[in-house]
Amino acid sequence: MSTMNREEIISILEYGVMAPSTHNTQPWKFSITNDGVEIYLDQTRILTQADPHMRDAFISIGCLIENISIAATAKGYGAQVCIYSPERNKTNAVAAIIFSKKSDSAEKSNRALFDTIPKRVNSRGLFTKEAVPLAKIESEIAIMAQGGYFTMHSIAMVTDQTQLNSIAQLTEEGIAEAHHSDAFREEMSHWMPSALSKRKNGLQWYSLHMPFFLSFFIAEIIKNKDMGHVLAKKSADCVRSAQVGLAFTANEENLATWMTVGRSAEHLMLYIQSLGFHTSIYVGGTEIGDRAKDFAQLLGGECKPQFFFVVGKISTPHKVSPRESVISKLLN
Ligand SMILES: Cc1cc2nc3c(=O)[nH]c(=O)nc-3n(C[C@H](O)[C@H](O)[C@H](O)COP(=O)(O)O)c2cc1C
Repeated sequence: MSTMNREEIISILEYGVMAPSTHNTQPWKFSITNDGVEIYLDQTRILTQADPHMRDAFISIGCLIENISIAATAKGYGAQVCIYSPERNKTNAVAAIIFSKKSDSAEKSNRALFDTIPKRVNSRGLFTKEAVPLAKIESEIAIMAQGGYFTMHSIAMVTDQTQLNSIAQLTEEGIAEAHHSDAFREEMSHWMPSALSKRKNGLQWYSLHMPFFLSFFIAEIIKNKDMGHVLAKKSADCVRSAQVGLAFTANEENLATWMTVGRSAEHLMLYIQSLGFHTSIYVGGTEIGDRAKDFAQLLGGECKPQFFFVVGKISTPHKVSPRESVISKLLN
């Protein structure tokens, strides 16, 4: 039996669900067990157009797992994460976390990450010229490597402006190509609630730096008109304005790899935001069309790009996006 009761487990999961997720779909469900929690993929949240292989859904679940692990540790519990093998049927649990007795030493180690969980946002917009603390990020990556974060995937830190410009170009082409598809745009429009919507999921108008009134029409506009070139250019400009990008690559594509990518990415995004800097995720260049190959070549090797985010300081950060309650995500 876990030393944590049901209410405590739910309070830890509240931190879990603050994780980023593709289109803010929050594609997770929970089952509370005797000694922790089992995590399931919410099949109703799969983006069949934007994420046909479900990589982004599982990366999102990886981000959730990292938050849960950080929150449990900060509250003085051990959190043993078990990511199930890729062969498992996707209707079964994809991961389990077992909580164990308090450990005071662990509590101090990740306090800054824990405090950052409720404040973390995926920022969009142009970065200022303020210097990013590259050495600190490098040393956090080294600490993570010692902690076993990179056994199933690798990370590359891109600081060369020419390389960043090329990634921006791939991002621009990828987003523009995706928007040519009516089905992609229709799916995306479903995840764009208006400013007065009571929905607790989806891409928020303020997070897209959209005027209040436009939020009432944007879903219809996106659905019926290919605005891809405009959105693509905006995203590419953000990537170009960054001083550093973090690219996650792997040799294998499977659920376990994706979840571990999500854990590492969330850990680093929290670390960077705990330093007062911002992070922006752009996966258009890694996964749309044939661009993954070009992306891999840019990084100089045979690898499968998984995830990418850029780092800098944004002068007008927005507030956090809403989340569905943990209770609504419980299976038991
Ligand atoms: C796997 C994954 C892929 C994402 N891809 C993009 C992307 O390509 N472009 C983008 O602007 N945001 C992307 N996001 C960010 C989400 O839209 C964002 O996390 C979500 O809207 C919730 O907002 P928040 O992170 O500020 O809480 C991605 C997030 C995840 C986890």
